[in-house]
Amino acid sequence: MKILLDTADVNAIRRAYEYFPLDGVTTNPSILAAAGRAPYEVLGEIRDLLGKDGDLHVQVISRKAEDMLAEAQRIREKLGENTFIKVPVTPEGLKAIMLMKERGIRVTATCIYTVQQAFLAGKAGADYAAPYVNRIENLGEDGVKTVQRMQDVYDANGFGTCLLAASFKNTRQVTGLAEYGIGAMTLPPDILEGLLKNPCVDSAAEKFIADFETLRGPGATMLD
Ligand code: E4P
Repeated sequence: MKILLDTADVNAIRRAYEYFPLDGVTTNPSILAAAGRAPYEVLGEIRDLLGKDGDLHVQVISRKAEDMLAEAQRIREKLGENTFIKVPVTPEGLKAIMLMKERGIRVTATCIYTVQQAFLAGKAGADYAAPYVNRIENLGEDGVKTVQRMQDVYDANGFGTCLLAASFKNTRQVTGLAEYGIGAMTLPPDILEGLLKNPCVDSAAEKFIADFETLRGPGATMLD
């Protein structure tokens, strides 16, 4: 299971990489808009942080397949050929995914709300497919179960596409998919940090320190 960070906040990425076992960064046009900076400037900084082999996912904006392909080529020139190109699974997007795969471009099918879209993205040969867990829940469906069904479709058909679950709003959604063993998930920094936020753990760790200090004095550690 890969864990990626869903943000273009360079400081947040740097901090999260220090404390968590991470595999890459995903962005989308809304995330870039929130960063409020020139897109290739911020994406270049993220690429430098990840190194040339780090997983970086960047979305195209155009509506027509041929224009999406041109954008994909520009993104790869600017950020490296191993950059994953995110393409919404619309009819034009599906066409673009096939054009990109014919040219050996790494593709992340995105904007996935339904099992049908995930099925078609897998059939078209996308490397990753990104279903939106919480947005699915906002439509009244069970987001975790829907993504699990997508994994079942891939397993049943032997598709090589890996699910990259996105749009998380709580840690229950994260563990629900971790238990099922999907390929990857991308988390906003607050949800990632929420996986370790637990006052019981903090107070247990503090109690160990305090007990040891009663034995060996304030500030003592196993170095002493
Ligand atoms: C992935 O990058 C998706 O675009 C993103 O996770 C969507 O999340 P949101 O529903 O919080 O906008």
